[in-house]
Amino acid sequence: MDVIKRSAEFLDKKGVESPRLQVELLLAHQLGLPRMGLYLNFERVLTPKELVDLREMIKRRGAREPLQHILGTTSFCGLELAVNSAVLVPRPETEMLAEMGWNFLNAELLNAECGVRSAESRITALDFGTGSGCLAIALAWKCPAAWVVAIDVSPEALVVAQRNAVRHQVNSRIEFILGDGLKAVPAGGRFDLIVGNPPYIPSAEIATLDPEVREHDPRLALDGGADGLDFCRRLAAEAGCFLRPGGRIMLEFGDGQEAAIEKLFQEQKWIVEAVKADYNAKPRFLTARRDE
Ligand SMILES: C[S@@+](CC[C@H](N)C(=O)[O-])C[C@H]1O[C@@H](n2cnc3c(N)ncnc32)[C@H](O)[C@@H]1O
Repeated sequence: MDVIKRSAEFLDKKGVESPRLQVELLLAHQLGLPRMGLYLNFERVLTPKELVDLREMIKRRGAREPLQHILGTTSFCGLELAVNSAVLVPRPETEMLAEMGWNFLNAELLNAECGVRSAESRITALDFGTGSGCLAIALAWKCPAAWVVAIDVSPEALVVAQRNAVRHQVNSRIEFILGDGLKAVPAGGRFDLIVGNPPYIPSAEIATLDPEVREHDPRLALDGGADGLDFCRRLAAEAGCFLRPGGRIMLEFGDGQEAAIEKLFQEQKWIVEAVKADYNAKPRFLTARRDE
């Protein structure tokens, strides 16, 4: 289709990465086809209405609105999630954090079945800064025995997260709480796992990010304070008393923050078990437990 070529050239000029792929995804969405379906309909001529709608989407993408906002959804761990400007668009690397989390929870479940841990207490996880709900929902989905508490300071984000949980039928096992940090955790709350992808971009760096991120992801989801470590500092100081014995904290962090985060946690009497790299071989995830 000629329209794909012309639209891709337009997006390329606007500095959009992988322009042809972007056009194909938008067009496939509009026609209700899988992307490969476009090639089976290569000679199909778009109706005037389809052409107008596609142009509108291409214009938005050319203005550097994220593809996921235009489509209204994204995929996370195979789950389709609604996204809008109230939530961070979940990133592919965060899927690794989700996987680390559900592997830990499922191993704990096995321990309970083998009598290594008390079978009376339910497996629980806390998702700090849930945004679209991606981590909480993936954990509940992959660990059907788990009870998850998901906190966010943004009421608009919680609306999106709750809708996503309903969509995947895990809403009865996730408690969504509006609040600032761990202050929002119900009294006496103790968790096997605290997971989080807190805001971790140093404030001054936000202006240097791609327009898709700096103008469309909520600032509240990005800004980690002067050095990007404000939330990790708070979690290192406060999260310990919300963990059950044997529990873990698993956090995503920003480029080049690994040494500082490790130090922060060690200073607060955590044992750093692992720092794991993402798909690009960049250190990205911290796993720590309390010195018991
Ligand atoms: C980087 S986003 C992560 C969203 C989602 N967990 C993900 O991985 O895509 C960070 C989230 O933390 C939330 N947040 C920021 N400050 C917070 C605070 N003081 N207490 C709780 N959540 C907060 C933001 O609203 C945002 O949804």
